[in-house]
Amino acid sequence: MELLAFGVQADEKPLIEQAFADHHPTRTLDVFLTTDTAPIAAGHEIISTSVNCDLGADVLSNLAAGGTRMVAQRSTGFNNVDLDVAERLGITVARVSSYSPYSVAEFAWTLAMAVNRRIVRASTRTRDFDFRLDGLMGRDLHGRTAGVLGTGKIGEAFARIARGFGMRLLGWDVAENPACRELGMTYVPKEQLLAESDLVSLHVPLLPSTRHLIDATALKTMRDDAILVNSSRGGLVDTAALVDELRAGRFTGVGLDVYEAEAGLFFLDKSLEAVDDDTLARLVTFPNVLVTSHQAYYTVDAVTQIVATTADNVLDYTAGRRSGNVLVPRS
Ligand SMILES: NC(=O)c1ccc[n+]([C@@H]2O[C@H](COP(=O)([O-])OP(=O)(O)OC[C@H]3O[C@@H](n4cnc5c(N)ncnc54)[C@H](O)[C@@H]3O)[C@@H](O)[C@H]2O)c1
Repeated sequence: MELLAFGVQADEKPLIEQAFADHHPTRTLDVFLTTDTAPIAAGHEIISTSVNCDLGADVLSNLAAGGTRMVAQRSTGFNNVDLDVAERLGITVARVSSYSPYSVAEFAWTLAMAVNRRIVRASTRTRDFDFRLDGLMGRDLHGRTAGVLGTGKIGEAFARIARGFGMRLLGWDVAENPACRELGMTYVPKEQLLAESDLVSLHVPLLPSTRHLIDATALKTMRDDAILVNSSRGGLVDTAALVDELRAGRFTGVGLDVYEAEAGLFFLDKSLEAVDDDTLARLVTFPNVLVTSHQAYYTVDAVTQIVATTADNVLDYTAGRRSGNVLVPRS
């Protein structure tokens, strides 16, 4: 039975082929699953998808009609999947519930420090043999406050690094993490965290209840000199409201690895096309903003774990086993 994998990056391809070598012939595609590409899956009982694949109602119906019965999603987040429709159509969807949280936490810190210490501008200047320091002044983070929204696996790893910098830790979550408390984190209401934090980092999943968690009101609650980092999901931030605040000259820096309209853009080469997303086009013009294209998870360690768990999920399905990675609709 051939497994068809959508949205495969070039670096990821040999890892996927190797993980499935002993049990499934595998075909990898660099295209993402969309209504246009769904017909390619016809005849494949098992497919694998990545984070920006569309698993909404239309695509799922198309897959079911073509005989697909199992989707092995190669990510933790599953906000791209309509689980109610998948269940109704009898399609099993499994995800990778955990992998190296350090990949994402370390990247969130990379963004935080890059915007704080103006690394991109500094590098551009030295390449031009412009060795002035004007405009490159950053801030010590030692003794300042890190606010972590979502203190699960990645939030905890982020908080540990913040401790290493000697930062005060504030947290907000629906469930407190004892390990974060042991690190000295104080759990506070979201408004207090936003008002007091010099660095705000987002690590909650995207759910209907967390969509635009950082909206215009939340942004106005934040300190003018704060750093905001989003390495979780783009939909957590109201990007249009963020642009308004940036236009007003606020924030030391904003680091975004995710963007709410990233599907159809991120992971693709759009460099020769006219950009028709005015919000993104404006966002990247701010000197204090750094945007990367959903690469926080992209370490050899994390991708190897993701692929190995995806292979396990497929083996569980073919053996009729039901692991904790199988997704069920929220009641
Ligand atoms: N940029 C990337 O490459 C990348 C990679 C992996 C994960 N992520 C994102 O990071 C997120 C966090 O991953 P994780 O492994 O730490 O997950 P996790 O499940 O370990 O932690 C999520 C935390 O959010 C909390 N939470 C859930 N719903 C909430 C709500 N409504 N309000 C407040 N808190 C809530 C949970 O209690 C939990 O502590 C994922 O959902 C995913 O969106 C991004």
